[in-house]
Amino acid sequence: MKSKLFFLSAFIALNFILGCSPKKAASPEQEMKIFVDELMQKMTLDEKIGQLNLPGSGDIVTGQTTSSDIGKKIKEGKVGGLLNIKSVEKIMDVQKVAVEESRLKIPLIFGMDVVHGYQTTFPIPLGLAASWDMNLIEKSARIAAQEASADGICWTYSPMVDISRDPRWGRIAESAGEDAYLGSQIAKAFVAGYQGDDLTKNNTIMSCVKHFALYGAAEAGRDYNTTDMSFQRMYNEYLPPYKAAVDAGAGSVMSSFNDINGIPATGNRWLLTELLRDEWGFDGFVVTDFTGINEMIEHGMGDLQAVSALALNAGVDMDMVGEGLLTTLKKSLDEGKITEATIDQACRRILEAKYKLGLFDDPYRYCDVNRSKSEIFTPENNFAAREIAAQTFVLLKNEQQLLPLKKKGKIALVGPLADNRENMAGTWSVAVNHDQSITVLEGFKAAVGDKAEIVYAKGSNIVDDPKLDYWVSSWGKTTIDSVKSPTQLREEAIAVASKCDVIVAVMGEAAEMSGESSSRSDISLPGSQKQLLEALLKTGKPVVLVLFTGRPLVLSWEEKNVPAILNVWFGGTQSGNAIADVVFGAVNPSGKLPVTFPQNLGQVPIFYNHKNTGRPLEVGKWFEKYRSNYLDVTNDPLYPFGFGLSYTQFSYGELRLSNNNLIGNQNLTASIEIKNIGSVDGSEVVQLYIRDLVGTMTRPVKELKGFQKVFLKAGETKVVSFAITPEDLKFYNYKLNYDWEPGDFVLMVGGNSRDVKAAPFSWLK
Ligand code: BGC
Repeated sequence: MKSKLFFLSAFIALNFILGCSPKKAASPEQEMKIFVDELMQKMTLDEKIGQLNLPGSGDIVTGQTTSSDIGKKIKEGKVGGLLNIKSVEKIMDVQKVAVEESRLKIPLIFGMDVVHGYQTTFPIPLGLAASWDMNLIEKSARIAAQEASADGICWTYSPMVDISRDPRWGRIAESAGEDAYLGSQIAKAFVAGYQGDDLTKNNTIMSCVKHFALYGAAEAGRDYNTTDMSFQRMYNEYLPPYKAAVDAGAGSVMSSFNDINGIPATGNRWLLTELLRDEWGFDGFVVTDFTGINEMIEHGMGDLQAVSALALNAGVDMDMVGEGLLTTLKKSLDEGKITEATIDQACRRILEAKYKLGLFDDPYRYCDVNRSKSEIFTPENNFAAREIAAQTFVLLKNEQQLLPLKKKGKIALVGPLADNRENMAGTWSVAVNHDQSITVLEGFKAAVGDKAEIVYAKGSNIVDDPKLDYWVSSWGKTTIDSVKSPTQLREEAIAVASKCDVIVAVMGEAAEMSGESSSRSDISLPGSQKQLLEALLKTGKPVVLVLFTGRPLVLSWEEKNVPAILNVWFGGTQSGNAIADVVFGAVNPSGKLPVTFPQNLGQVPIFYNHKNTGRPLEVGKWFEKYRSNYLDVTNDPLYPFGFGLSYTQFSYGELRLSNNNLIGNQNLTASIEIKNIGSVDGSEVVQLYIRDLVGTMTRPVKELKGFQKVFLKAGETKVVSFAITPEDLKFYNYKLNYDWEPGDFVLMVGGNSRDVKAAPFSWLK
C-alpha cells in the first residue's frame, strides 16, 4: 500500500475528483484524507448513509441494471458496494451505473466469498491448514486474488480465522483448526496472498478477516449459537489469529453472528471499537455478516431502528444485505440516538477502502475483460492447485505399507465420492465450475494408464435419508442415486471388488455436510457408507479408505478395521489428480492434522493445549478413581493435533538446548537431528511446543510455538533448530497484561503434539 504506485494513484485520484492540480502532501495517508474530506463535503446525508449499504446482487439483471431496484438505488447513491456478483461483464455494467449515473460518481466495491480459490479451487481452508506450509497457502491466496480480480472482484470475505475445537460445527471446514499459533501464521499468509504489497494493483484484492469474533466457539457446535468465554481464554486462545490478520494489514473485518458474553458481536462496542480499533489499531472498515444487524432483533436487542443504531455506535461501518442502516439511521439521527459524526466516520472508512483499492483513480481497474479470458483457470493455476492439494492430505494409517499402491493388476475404486464431480471442490466454492473438477476415477485412470485396470462401482449413496439429502444438496449436489436402490448399489460393488487385487474406498461427507449451517451431532461416516465399508472388508481384499471430510470425524471403528486411511478433506478442482498422485506414490504425503480427531463424540471439545487440572491422570492410564478421566473412554484422542504419517519414517535424535538456565534477554536455541530412515524421500513438519510449568495463572500442558517443514531425501539427516526468545513465553494473565513470567519450562519437539522429545529449562528475569 505504501509503494510508489500508491502515491501515483493518490495524485491521479485527487485530480479525478477535484479537477485541480495535485497538492504537495506529506504522506499518502494525508493525501487520502484530503481527498476523502473534499469528497465528503459534497455528499448529502443520504449519500453518506448510502455508502454504508451492501446489498446482495439478487435482482440485478445485466444490461437492465438501471431498471432493477438495486440499479435505482445505485443511481440514487444508496449503495456502497455489492455482494457475490459474478463475472466481469456484469460488474462493469453495474459499475457503469454508479460512475455514470449517480450524482457523485462514487465507484462501488465488489466483494465475494473467495474462500479457497476462485474458479481454480484449492482445498478447503482446514485442508490448507493441514499442509503447514505458509508459502503454499499464500500462493493459493495469490492465485485466488489473481483470478477473482480478473473477473471484477476487488474484495474477498476471507480469511476465516475462527479457532474451533468443536467438530460438530460445520464451519470448522472453513477454519485453520484449533490452534492460535498455527491459525495466526495462516491468517498472515492469506492476507499477504490476497493483498500483496500494493492494494492498488489490479491483481490484488482487499481481504476481510472473519468472523469477528469467537464464532468457532458456538455452544454445542450448533451454528450461529452463543459464545460465553472468559477474557483470558479469548485473548490467549481465540483472538490471536484475528489480531495477526489485522497486524498483517487486512483492509476490513467482518463482525460475527454470535453473541459474546451477552452482546451480539455486531452490536458489541467493546469488540468492534475498544478491542479492534483502540487496542489493536485497526484502521480499515467493519462490515457485518449477512443480515447481522437485523438478526439482533431475534437476539432480543430491540427493533430494526434500535439494532441499527446499536451496530453503528458499536463500530459497524457497512451493513451486509439487511438495509437496517439505510432505512433507519436518519430517524435515529433526528432522535439523537446517533450522531452525524458517527455516520461520517463509517462513510469515511468505506471511501478510504475504495481509495486504497485505486477505484477513484480507475473504477474499472478490476474490469479487464482480456484478463478475465486469459488469467482464470489457467493450466499454471491448475498445476498449482494439484501440487497444493497433494500437500494437504493426511495419512492417518498405513498398515504394512499398503500405500502407495503399485500401478498393476486390478484396482477396485468404490464409493459414492469416487466418480463424483460436484463434491470435489468442497463447501464455499462460490465461483467454481463443477464440470471442471477432476474426479478420483479420472485421476486414477490418468495415473495408471495401461499399467493397471481401474474398475469402478458406486457402492452406496452418500446418505440414504431423503430428508438429509434434501438439506445437504441445496447447491444441487445430490447424494442419493435416483436409479439404483442401496442394496443394488452395494451388491454390484461387492461383485466388482471381489474380483480385484485391492480396493480403494472413496467415502466421506458430502461437500455440504460441512460449512455453514451444517452442524452434526453424529460425526461418524454416514451409515450407508459404513455398511458398504464393512462389506468391502469382508471380501478379504486389502482396503484403502480415501476419506473426504470437512471436519474431524469419529473414526475409531475405521482405525481398528481398515488397513490404510488417507484423509483428503475436499481438495478443490484438482482433487482427483492430487489423490492419484499420493495414492500411487508420485507424492509422499506430508499433511499433519490442524485439529484433534476424537475417539468418540463424548470427548468433544478435545484439544491438545488443554489445562492440566488439579487431578490429572497419569499418562498411559485409562482410569483412576477421583482423577480427571472417563469410565468409558481413555483421555487420548484418536489422532492428536499435528499427527500425520508418511511413506517414509523419521527418527528424532536427542533434543539439545543451547542453555538450560537463562536470564533476561538471552537467546535459547533448541536443536534436534531428524533422519529419514525409510527408503523414499519425504517432508516432515517438525513441531515445537513449550509448557510453562508454574504461573500466576494455570497454563496449558503444551502450546505450539514454532514449526518447520523439512524435506529429507531417503537416508538424509538434518539438524532442525528453533530460536526461542522471551516473546515466545508471553501470555495474557488474569489482568490481561501480556508478559512472560520467570520460572521453569519444558520444551518439546516432535512430529505431532503427542510424540515429543522433551527438555527442561529455566528462564529468569
Ligand atoms: C457467511 C459469511 C459470508 C457471507 C457472505 C454469510 O452467511 O457467514 O461467511 O461471507 O454470508 O456470503
